[in-house]
Amino acid sequence: MAFFLAVACVYVVALAVLVLLDASRRRRGGAAGRSGSPQTQGLKLPPGSLGLPYLGETLQLYSQNPNIFFAARLKRYGEVFKTHVLGCPCVVLASPEAARMVLVSRAHLFRPTYPPSKERMIGPQALFFHQGDYHLRMRRAVQGWLGPDALRALVPDVEAAVASTLRWWEGRETSTFHTMKRLTFDVGVVTIFGRRVAEHVKEELRRNYFIVENGYNSFPIPVVPWTRYSQAIKARQRLGAILSGILSERRALGDLGDDLLGTLMRYRDDGGTALSDDQVADNVLGVLFAAQDTTASVLTWILKYLHDNPKLLEAVKAEQMAVYEENDGGRLPLTWAQTRTMPITNLVILESLRLASIITFAFREAVEDVDYEGFLIPKGWKVMPLFRNIHHSPEFFQDPQKFDPSRFMVAPKPGTFLPFGSGVHACPGNDLAKLEMVVLVHRLVTNYRWQVIGSSDDVTYSPFPVPKRGLRARLLRATTAGAAEDYGRRAPAAAA
Ligand code: HEM
Repeated sequence: MAFFLAVACVYVVALAVLVLLDASRRRRGGAAGRSGSPQTQGLKLPPGSLGLPYLGETLQLYSQNPNIFFAARLKRYGEVFKTHVLGCPCVVLASPEAARMVLVSRAHLFRPTYPPSKERMIGPQALFFHQGDYHLRMRRAVQGWLGPDALRALVPDVEAAVASTLRWWEGRETSTFHTMKRLTFDVGVVTIFGRRVAEHVKEELRRNYFIVENGYNSFPIPVVPWTRYSQAIKARQRLGAILSGILSERRALGDLGDDLLGTLMRYRDDGGTALSDDQVADNVLGVLFAAQDTTASVLTWILKYLHDNPKLLEAVKAEQMAVYEENDGGRLPLTWAQTRTMPITNLVILESLRLASIITFAFREAVEDVDYEGFLIPKGWKVMPLFRNIHHSPEFFQDPQKFDPSRFMVAPKPGTFLPFGSGVHACPGNDLAKLEMVVLVHRLVTNYRWQVIGSSDDVTYSPFPVPKRGLRARLLRATTAGAAEDYGRRAPAAAA
C-alpha cells in the first residue's frame, strides 16, 4: 500500500512540475516570434488552441477518430493551425504545398522526432531517427538493397511466404490483420537475412519482436518490471543478442550474405570505416519495424475493399487468371515483369493506399523559427503534415470517400498523393510493399475465396487504421470454377 501511495505522490509531483514547465514553455513559445530571428520577428502563431496545461488536446485527439479531430479544426482554423498533443506544441499543415515545404523544399529546417522511449526500443542508430550525413549514408545502403535488382530476386521468396501464409489461414476464421502480420514479418526476415536463418532462430526473432512491438506504444514506465514497456526493453536486449550471434556466425563463415544484413555488414564509408554492430542491429530492426504493420494494414484494407466491391473483384480475378494460365495453371512462378504489368490490380493498390491512408501524418520538429506564409512555426515545435487530409480532400480527389480505383487512370496532381511520404525520408520500401500486395492478390484470387465475418465498417487504430477486429475472415479454397464464381454473388460482410 505504502508503495502505491509513494508512486501516486511521485506521479502528482511529476505532473505538477510538468504543468509548470509547460506553462513556462508556453510563455516562451508565445514570445518566440518576438525574440526569434529578425526574419520571424512580429510573426503570429497560427490560429488554434493549445488546450489544457500539459495535456493540451491529447485527450481530444486520442478519444475519438483522429479524422474528426483534424477535420473539426481544419474547418474552424483553415489549413494551418496549432494544437498541443503528447506534451508538445504542434503546427498542423494540411495542404500539399505545406507538406512539400516540410518534407522537400525546406526539409533541412525540420528534423524527424520520436519520443526517447521509442528510440530506445528500436535502437537509436536506426536511420529514420537521423538527419544529415549519417541518415543519407544509411538510406543509400538500405535503398540499394530494396531496389529493382534485389526485388527481382526476391519474387520467389515473397511468393513462398504468401503461399505459406494462405495455407496457414485456409479453413480458419481469424483476424486478417494478424494473418497479414505473419506474412509481412516473414517477408521482412527473408529480405533482411536471406534464406539463411534457421527456423528456431526465426521463431526467437518473431517471439521477441512481437514483445517489443507490444510495448512500443505503451506508457514508458521502465522501473516497474512487469509493464509492457519493461518487457519490451528486455525483449529488445534479447533481439540484440540474437543479432549479435548471427553477425558472429557470418564473420566466422567468411560469408556475409547476399541480403540486407550482408549489405550493412560490408558497408564502408568514404574513409573506409565499417558500421558498428549496434548500428547494423538498430538499422535491421528499424527496417523490420517500418515494414511490418504498415504493409499488413494496407493488405488488410485491400482484402476489405475487394470484398466490398464484387464487380471489381471479378475484374481483378480475370486479370490474375490470365497470368495464372500464362504460368501453366500456376505451376510456373510469377516473374518480376508480370508483377509490374497488372494494371487493374495496380489501380486497386493505389486507391487502397489513398483511401486507407494508414500513415495519417508525418512528425517533424522545427530546428529554427520558420516563417510559413506569414505564420510563425517556432523552433522546437512539432510539425505535422497531414497526408490523410490531402488524400481525402474533394479538391484533389472527386467524391473522396468512394473507393474508385479508376480515378488513378489519370495521374493525381503533383504533391497530392503521398502514401509513402516525400523527400529525403520518403519510404525506401515502397516497391517491396507493392510487390507483397500484388503477389498476395494474385495467389488469393486465383486459389481462394474469403468470407468476412460480422460487420467490417468500424475502424480501430493500432496505431494504424485497420477495420475493426482486424477484419475477421475465413479463407476457403476455390477448388472449382463454380466456387470461384461465387465471389461475385456474396453479400458484403456475409457471415460464414
Ligand atoms: C504499405 C506499406 C508502407 C507504407 C504505407 C509506408 C509509408 C512510409 C512513410 C509515409 C514513410 C515516411 C515517414 C516520414 O516521412 O516520416 C516511410 C519511411 C520509411 N519506410 Fe515505409 N512504408 C511502407 C512499407 C515499408 C517497407 C516494406 C519497408 C522496408 C522494407 C519500409 C521502410 C521504411 C524506412 C526504412 C523508412 C524511413 C526512411 C527514412 O527515414 O529515410 N517501409 N514509410
